Amino acid sequence: QRAQRTVVSTNIHEVESRVSMEDRWLKNHHKSGVIWLTGLSGAGKTTLALALEHELHRRGYQVYVLDGDNIRHGLSADLGFSPDDRAENIRRVGEVSKLFAQAGTIVVTAFISPYRADRDHVREIAGDLFHEIHVKADVATCESRDPKGLYKKARAGQIKDFTGISAPYEEPEAAELVIDTSTQSIDQSIALLLDYVGARFTID
Ligand code: PPS
Ligand code: MG
Repeated sequence: QRAQRTVVSTNIHEVESRVSMEDRWLKNHHKSGVIWLTGLSGAGKTTLALALEHELHRRGYQVYVLDGDNIRHGLSADLGFSPDDRAENIRRVGEVSKLFAQAGTIVVTAFISPYRADRDHVREIAGDLFHEIHVKADVATCESRDPKGLYKKARAGQIKDFTGISAPYEEPEAAELVIDTSTQSIDQSIALLLDYVGARFTID
């Protein structure tokens, strides 16, 4: 219920587009949806999201990445890393992702999204369009990579509420796909994602 905001908008009457999502799929020659990457900092979410976007774009797909490090400069610039702020960040991104998917785009999101309840909330928002992908690597592996030096800072007590060190990461229990980046190369991981997209986003 953390992610639930008080609804204060009243006298609202929803309108319906005359262009259906299926019409957009036919025009794009593929289905759309939200490929939701979740995992620790340094697990490989951004790397995989950007490589997947590049390759899908090259193959003619309508695709767009939403990444935590970027979204927190704009849409979520007012939010920090407390449980409530992360819930609100994920709720916003969930709603935006649904809009992109309804517009016919394959959205690839790269957010730690450490709380199961927040990810489940996105699944409620986006329904069948939601695909949860666990980009899996243990803390020791991520800490040894430490591409941004954040684990070092977190260990030194310079970042509070750091995921995996001083804040929790709740692993998915029923992800559509698990990619173990501690054993799979980037190319192998991308191949798994491309297989997944081929199987789930092709128009029968
Ligand atoms: S969340 O939990 O989904 O709301 O986080 P997200 O929007 O993905 O933002 C994570 C990126 O913010 C940087 N950062 C932190 N991460 C975790 N914990 C703390 N306290 C923190 N402070 C800053 C970090 O660059 C994360 O990016 P990634 O790509 O995951 O390393
Ligand atoms: Mg990242």
